[in-house]
Amino acid sequence: MNYEVFKEQILTLTGINLSAYKENQMKRRIDAIVKKNQCDNYSEYTILLKASASSLQEFITYLTINVTEFFRNPSQWDILEEQIFPLLLQKKRHIKIWSAACSTGDEPYSLAMVLSKFMPLSQISIIATDLDKEVLDKARSGQYIARSIANVPKEFQEKFFTEHNGMYSIKQNLKDCITFKQHNLLKDPYPSGMDLIVCRNVLIYFTEEAKKQIYLNFNKALTDDGILFVGSTEQIIMCQDYGFESYKIFFYQKAGLKR
Ligand SMILES: C[S@@+](CC[C@H](N)C(=O)[O-])C[C@H]1O[C@@H](n2cnc3c(N)ncnc32)[C@H](O)[C@@H]1O
Repeated sequence: MNYEVFKEQILTLTGINLSAYKENQMKRRIDAIVKKNQCDNYSEYTILLKASASSLQEFITYLTINVTEFFRNPSQWDILEEQIFPLLLQKKRHIKIWSAACSTGDEPYSLAMVLSKFMPLSQISIIATDLDKEVLDKARSGQYIARSIANVPKEFQEKFFTEHNGMYSIKQNLKDCITFKQHNLLKDPYPSGMDLIVCRNVLIYFTEEAKKQIYLNFNKALTDDGILFVGSTEQIIMCQDYGFESYKIFFYQKAGLKR
């Protein structure tokens, strides 16, 4: 079985279209996990994935690269708090937020914590999605080791976490601000009417073609003047082509597509 056929098998088994991910990087990772499972080739590994649900989940989790942290790139979170939230909230009191590819929840929980400075928790509602069910379960459980919360400002640690035997748990009132759902950015329908979409550190893994489609989908999912917040290596070249204007570095505002 060659890599092309393997990709088709994975699409059938998982719904993940590997052709939309940068090939060199992805193939290198896949070859490593095939070897780790003591399989000699893609055919053997496919047989294993079909036979064992845990191997299939291991493959998905390995593939999706779930590295994340609270307040990742803190200076960008300062811009969010000092400029972006005030901008969005001057128009309306309730804003719709989507954390796309949220991994273990560090990002949407960080969003809710910052937003709590502007409104009561009962008024905050954030959709947080990821492809990988396993990270979503972890996100819902809201349990983190001490190292994970090192970036969380002290005031938020005291307000929103309880500690037990070295594990830090998110309090229920913060959890209630977030709805976690499975969503594949490459194939599922996008939500609409979003005022802020936060999608960071995932588009780097996609081909240019896949990224273009995602930018267009995000543009559609945003309300007029809505904001897209991207990762620190994910600046959008020619953002006008997808209906965005650069608002601040790493923040793009919906500007409407040219006809
Ligand atoms: C490196 S993490 C980024 C997490 C967080 N946004 C951050 O910046 O810290 C990338 C996440 O993208 C998710 N992912 C990969 N492909 C995806 C897809 N096609 N649709 C949705 N999520 C995807 C992975 O499961 C992983 O949790």
